[in-house]
Amino acid sequence: MHFITFEGIEGSGKTTQVNLILGWLRNQTDKVLLTREPGGTAIGDHIREILLHPDNTDMTPEAEILLFSAARAQIVRQVLLPHLEQGWIVICDRFYDSTLAYQGYGHGLSLDALHQITDFATGGLTPDLTIFLDIGVEAGLRRKAQTPAEWNRMEAQSLTFHHQVYSGYQALAAQAPDRWFKIDAELPQDVIQTRIRRRIAKQVGVEIVLEV
Ligand code: TYD
Repeated sequence: MHFITFEGIEGSGKTTQVNLILGWLRNQTDKVLLTREPGGTAIGDHIREILLHPDNTDMTPEAEILLFSAARAQIVRQVLLPHLEQGWIVICDRFYDSTLAYQGYGHGLSLDALHQITDFATGGLTPDLTIFLDIGVEAGLRRKAQTPAEWNRMEAQSLTFHHQVYSGYQALAAQAPDRWFKIDAELPQDVIQTRIRRRIAKQVGVEIVLEV
């Protein structure tokens, strides 16, 4: 299966890189799907609005994890598995590693509990490859603040929270180095894109055309 996820903290340039990868893969095959979490289904998009709405400041971390997980349970069965089973390359902008990083390392919820909830939500589906856009917290937030219209509830968290999320990602990558591909997100955009393409080409076995 070719299930590829992208992870990174705010302002890592993840979405830009994901979209460039999508364009490149679509030139090589029709069977490529891009989706994102939270969201990616009608039900998931409703849940996304609740999760990210700036007014929902009183949401508890426990409610938050269950909402993320509900959206995930839906997308796994409605979208991801059916496409993967038919041989599609599926790219997901965030997946359960975001839960472990944000709700686990960030909010300090029990990682054991999160693993159980996540396993239930995904039915055990794990990415084959996870691309991590690695940028420091201050640099990422500086970049993100340049587009204030996109500011959401998660980004309004404290600096300490973001540092914990960042360390969480590093810990997760260290635990599964074969699955994680880390890239310095402060490199020029085209250099990052080329490196990601090379790694994905190796994963899915497509001929690589490296021009960005
Ligand atoms: P989004 O606007 O999609 O951010 P980005 O462009 O950075 O991906 O917002 C998703 C936010 O939700 C982001 O701050 C990360 C957070 N998140 C979690 O806290 N837990 C999760 O399980 C997921 C999927 C996302």
